[in-house]
Amino acid sequence: MNRKAQFVSAVLKKKGSQRAAGSAFAPVNIALVKYWGKRDQELNLPVTNSLSYTLSIGTHTSISLADRQDAIWLNDVPLSLEHPIARRLIAFCDLFRPDPATYFQIKTKNEVPTGAGLASSASGFAALTMAMNDLFGWDLDRRELSLLARLGSGSACRSLFDGFVEWHTGSREDGLDSFAERLDVEWPEFSVEPWILSSEQKAIDSRKAMQATIEHSSLYAAWPAKVAHDLSALKRALFDRDFDTLGAICENNALTMHATMIATAPPIIYWTEESLRAMRLVWQWRKNGLPIYFTMDAGPNLKLIFLKKDEATVRTLILSSKVYYPTSKCL
Ligand code: DP6
Repeated sequence: MNRKAQFVSAVLKKKGSQRAAGSAFAPVNIALVKYWGKRDQELNLPVTNSLSYTLSIGTHTSISLADRQDAIWLNDVPLSLEHPIARRLIAFCDLFRPDPATYFQIKTKNEVPTGAGLASSASGFAALTMAMNDLFGWDLDRRELSLLARLGSGSACRSLFDGFVEWHTGSREDGLDSFAERLDVEWPEFSVEPWILSSEQKAIDSRKAMQATIEHSSLYAAWPAKVAHDLSALKRALFDRDFDTLGAICENNALTMHATMIATAPPIIYWTEESLRAMRLVWQWRKNGLPIYFTMDAGPNLKLIFLKKDEATVRTLILSSKVYYPTSKCL
């Protein structure tokens, strides 16, 4: 048995009672202190802990058994089984087939653009894991589900919880202590919203980019200590509800992650001209007195961090900036 299969059987201790179909919704999460780099590529174990905030938008997935081969629909369109997204979903499903001749029909719908650095893979693998739990009647708790979702995409383990969530790197080689958990913090005023500047698929996916950074960036060596520092400072700010300190930590953590990528040979740059224009606008608005910060992931879009009381002001500023991609769901 390979290490992934061993991991899955250690989590799935008891057999469930299978139903005809399963379905689930999982939300997108946005990292405030980022996960960037793996200590174990096979089991998706991160180099550092990370901390995220869960949004209300996400992915709806349903799954049932199919006759002769897997079939996948993404946003109501059948997906070629050769498509990179289909390949990743199928490889994940392979871990859970009761026998090799069990096939699945999967229908998945994203409320955000797929593969544009808006964490659709996190909500996607979390929703698929929960839908399988429903189909197979595993009856797993959230922590166990987060362990399984992590095998699909690391950041997916944080999408099993709402609010502020920490993913622990863990110290075990078998990865059984690398799960996510919700922090005991309620902050209804806190808000993160994507500012969509492009919905194009990214040129290089985050998995390849983070591995290239580890292997070929002279700045990566400084990253683990930076994350440890930012995590403890961010938790303090979070428990004190100190918005400006928290926003400054998040923004700097994201920019530092991008700096490690830019220093990679050859360089990895997700920013477009619009990304830079948008960053400068955020800095200008802040200078003018609005408490607003941004974070960015493996894509050109910004995620704005602000307080709910300022939502109308932020919307007006974005619309008047003309730097936006029109969509009904996001800013
Ligand atoms: C920049 O979770 O997509 O969004 O584990 O290889 O699937 P894999 O990577 P993924 O990486 C997310 C990276 C990030 C930061 C974060 O979400 O913490």
